[in-house]
Amino acid sequence: MIGLLSVMMYACNNGNQNKSATSGSVVQDPDEGDEKLPNPGGNDAAKYDPNRGAGKFTHVDIAKKLDENLANGGEKIYNVKCSGCHKLTDEKLVGPGWLGVTKRYKPEWIMNFITNTDEMLEKDPRAQANLQICLVRMPNQNLSDKNARDLLEFMRKNDGVK
Ligand code: HEC
Repeated sequence: MIGLLSVMMYACNNGNQNKSATSGSVVQDPDEGDEKLPNPGGNDAAKYDPNRGAGKFTHVDIAKKLDENLANGGEKIYNVKCSGCHKLTDEKLVGPGWLGVTKRYKPEWIMNFITNTDEMLEKDPRAQANLQICLVRMPNQNLSDKNARDLLEFMRKNDGVK
């Protein structure tokens, strides 16, 4: 695990360079089909949808109006699992402040990012840019789908949805 993390940190610190540059490394991304793809990352990048992100969520139904129940649930999870690194303003703590986050990203992207963080950090250009600013990888938060939906609603509330 630590080895994998450091390889990925290395990859992030060096932008999108060919991973085979880490010569001697035996750590392989399981879904990087090197034999089929002579240009590792290239074809992957073409398939990657930066609006949706990578993960199980392809479409999230959200109403115009806030769902207070979900938002309250989200606030509780925020207090326990997220507030150590994220402020509700635009100020950076360990990670970016959450103000405006629902305007910067589609709901699908947010839910994929928070439930499938490692893959997103590896593939998403905006997440990688933030990684260079924050210098810390967001750890996987082990959220259920319901947790993720609640958190999304709380972020919408924080962004002024009523
Ligand atoms: C240990 C610190 C830490 C914890 C705990 C943490 N995060 Fe993060 N988070 C980060 C960092 C660092 C980034 C920026 C990393 C990146 O995008 O490369 C980030 C990025 C994000 C982003 C993208 C924000 C943006 O503007 O690009 C979202 C959304 C997010 N986190 C949600 C959550 C949620 C939800 C929780 C709680 C369940 C949580 N985070 C817990 C550190 C943390």
